[in-house]
Amino acid sequence: MLLNLKKILGPANKHNFAIGAFNFVNMEVLQGIVNAAEKLKSPVIIQTTEGAVDYAGMKYLRNLAQAAIEDKKVPICLHLDHGKDLNYIKNAIKLGYSSVMFDGSKLSYDENVKQTKKIVKLAHKKNVSVEGEIGTIGGTEDKVTSKNIEYADPEQAIEFIEKTNVDALALGIGTSHGAFKFKGKAKIRQDILKEVKHITKKPLVLHGASGTPKFVLDKAKKFGMDIHGIHGLDEGELKKAIKNGINKVNNDTDLRIAFTAEVREFLRNNKEFDLRHYLAPGRDFVQETVEHRLKVMGSVNKARLY
Ligand code: G3H
Ligand code: 13P
Ligand code: ZN
Repeated sequence: MLLNLKKILGPANKHNFAIGAFNFVNMEVLQGIVNAAEKLKSPVIIQTTEGAVDYAGMKYLRNLAQAAIEDKKVPICLHLDHGKDLNYIKNAIKLGYSSVMFDGSKLSYDENVKQTKKIVKLAHKKNVSVEGEIGTIGGTEDKVTSKNIEYADPEQAIEFIEKTNVDALALGIGTSHGAFKFKGKAKIRQDILKEVKHITKKPLVLHGASGTPKFVLDKAKKFGMDIHGIHGLDEGELKKAIKNGINKVNNDTDLRIAFTAEVREFLRNNKEFDLRHYLAPGRDFVQETVEHRLKVMGSVNKARLY
């Protein structure tokens, strides 16, 4: 069942849990994600960045998603992550994505409001939802790594929601994209989150939320991956953020680490050249990782709410 972001986040907002939003770039990662969601009867958001679109092509990604939606019973939202270029956003709407993000966080506040508003009008006409962003996320974006996080100003965030009519808002509150030394120490500004939620009651989004489970990290270390020590957001911090109003939790790095570690293990131990023999374990290990993350987010068995 394909749902837009507003519809899929509705029960999460009402019942105080979060839905995992997982990035995919190929069939195996997508299958790992939706197999986990189906097994645990959890709603799920599957998303692609502009970079994923450049890699695979939007039609290929949309068709893979379409197959997953036909194959599974759980509610699924197909979302464009970090849309910055209007062409990608328009194309996603045209091709049947049920949700898009407009990331105007690098623009001035006024320009961010202006452009987000325009995209909301465009998308809502087609029943497509829009996620906006206020404040910035640290880490690697567009191949540039930055330690800088601009914390969202809560009053500005509240006004942004009113002015733009976005369906969900991503807040820069201390997390970073990717795998970094400083990411393990991420401290979420729960106060900002609480204030925005209390006033707006809107679904709020946490980017840079990967917190790689120990069983994945152990394998990554064992097979020589350079992931800079302790990786990711502490699960306790994430749970607190969900309690305080986060309803969409973005995970990409966890799955990249899981897939790559498993494939490295397989290729270290085997001389195989049949792709299926190492891609299948990669897919299954992504599934295991997603299952773990869905349990942390509290969305297990929540498909019954739709
Ligand atoms: O912002 C989300 C990602 O983790 C970065 O993804 O390398 O596909 O742009 P990307
Ligand atoms: P991670 O790098 O922590 O997985 O964040 C992913 C993300 O925010 C995608 O938009
Ligand atoms: Zn992000």
